Amino acid sequence: MTELLTDRVCVVTGAASGIGRSIALAFADHGAAVVVADIRREPREGGRPTYEVIQEDGGTARFVETDVSNPDDLERAVAVAAEEGALNVMVNNAGVLEWREFTEVTEAEYDRTMDVNAKGTFFGCQAAAKAMLDGDGGSIINLSSTAGIRGAAAYPSYCASKGAIRLLTYALADDLGPEGIRVNAIHPGAVESEMTRADSRVVDTEREDAFTEETPLGRLGQPEEVADAAVYLASELSSYVNGESLLVDGGISNT
Ligand SMILES: NC(=O)c1ccc[n+]([C@@H]2O[C@H](COP(=O)([O-])OP(=O)(O)OC[C@H]3O[C@@H](n4cnc5c(N)ncnc54)[C@H](O)[C@@H]3O)[C@@H](O)[C@H]2O)c1
Repeated sequence: MTELLTDRVCVVTGAASGIGRSIALAFADHGAAVVVADIRREPREGGRPTYEVIQEDGGTARFVETDVSNPDDLERAVAVAAEEGALNVMVNNAGVLEWREFTEVTEAEYDRTMDVNAKGTFFGCQAAAKAMLDGDGGSIINLSSTAGIRGAAAYPSYCASKGAIRLLTYALADDLGPEGIRVNAIHPGAVESEMTRADSRVVDTEREDAFTEETPLGRLGQPEEVADAAVYLASELSSYVNGESLLVDGGISNT
């Protein structure tokens, strides 16, 4: 499509499905080589695996089975990316959501949410930073959420994990900026994916009506709209952007 990401080597966690899949496809469209790092190959929503679609379109993509809650897996995904050249872009996108009232959250649910979302992002950033410090710098993009900015009673452990990602992003922007590594976060609003369809049952329910009524643009977002923000943060278009919380939420957070 463009040459915005030509010759860039990118790891996208959780890229089998949903938003991560759209980011991986968009990165490949803009010329990047992509490592799809996920616990599953097949998209949750169905269809062909992301890496196969990219390969069949003539792009460069590899799949690395990765559980982001295991730092060794993240190191391995980054090492595979390094085989394509120096790692330029890391997207910590893998995430899980439990829609549960505060008093009903179990320790196991809390641990899973924090392990995948907060710990997975923390060690994803660490694995990427180590590789980028040995290279020419880079761009790290963390998927937070509007739930990392304002609290929601319906998913308290998710809010805690996404708030952690926001502050981690600011800390690392301060730490790694001087090394030529930009660290930014994307905060999507409600976006159509299996997370909002199957896990939180927002899509096509009264919950969707509540979101769309509150959202100035009057609809849910699409994964491709988040992917466009990721392309911006991955590319030189955002060369002076560091420590940013980029809302992609139809205006719901600030109105
Ligand atoms: N969909 C939304 O409305 C929305 C809104 C704000 C933020 N987000 C965030 O965007 C990101 C992507 O969400 P989505 O809607 O595409 O979700 P999704 O459920 O459609 O896809 C998530 C992907 O992450 C993978 N994954 C889950 N646990 C993993 C693990 N331990 N290791 C590796 N991969 C793992 C899944 O296999 C899946 O492919 C998440 O971080 C989510 O919190 C989503």
